[in-house]
Amino acid sequence: MRKPLIYGNWKMNLDVKQSDDLVRSLLAVKLEHNVVEVGVAPDFCSLSTVAKTIRDMGAPISVAAQNISQHEKGAFTGEVNVDMAMTAGADTVILGHSERRTVFGESDELINEKVRLALRCRLNVILCVGEILGEREAGVHTEKVLYQLGMGLKGVTTDRVGNVVVAYEPVWAIGTGKTATPADAEEMHAAIRKFLSRLYGPVVANKIRILYGGSVKPDNIGALMLRENVDGALVGGASLNADDFIKIINYYK
Ligand code: G3P
Repeated sequence: MRKPLIYGNWKMNLDVKQSDDLVRSLLAVKLEHNVVEVGVAPDFCSLSTVAKTIRDMGAPISVAAQNISQHEKGAFTGEVNVDMAMTAGADTVILGHSERRTVFGESDELINEKVRLALRCRLNVILCVGEILGEREAGVHTEKVLYQLGMGLKGVTTDRVGNVVVAYEPVWAIGTGKTATPADAEEMHAAIRKFLSRLYGPVVANKIRILYGGSVKPDNIGALMLRENVDGALVGGASLNADDFIKIINYYK
């Protein structure tokens, strides 16, 4: 029903040569693109090089910008706009990542502005949501995640939401080695699916892929992917190692 999607978020870890070497390592092996869709999110400096290598090799690998400005153009030092991301080769943008929220103070309102801008410009969006440990311990994790999702999707119409992928990334699992259990992940993904169904109807909601992110590794991806509403993964650290990322992509083998 929903084609699995495994996306590598390389964050701010590799220079241009390292990024190109990594994507060439992925391209050097036979990936079953008809079974699993693959994407990579390089840093802005590496994006055009990585996208060109993928294009030159004719591989159907998606390329995501790790963020974009809410401004379309102008005196915004240090920012990267949609046009720059797209001309560099991005077909997707990751928005609302917990690091953008907590480290750089991006609000739900700002994230929503970027989501609507990206979709207007025909960029696909991976919209990240996730609770902090204290919210899970207090039992308000679902409420928080659905609030972030609702705010992120404000004004996104049914004809546009098909270009959105949701990524549930519990903040306490990011970079910690503490992966959510498959049961906990499925519980949240099912709540997200139900919420999307209320917003857009079951037919549209059932087509939207929901990725899990947070310490995904080769030894835990299989159990996560067995769950009904887990449609893939947004992988950080493990995507920086070609062998591990390939094992995650080939989770079904
Ligand atoms: O966006 C994916 C990332 O936040 C997950 O990081 O290192 O826990 O796989 P990691």
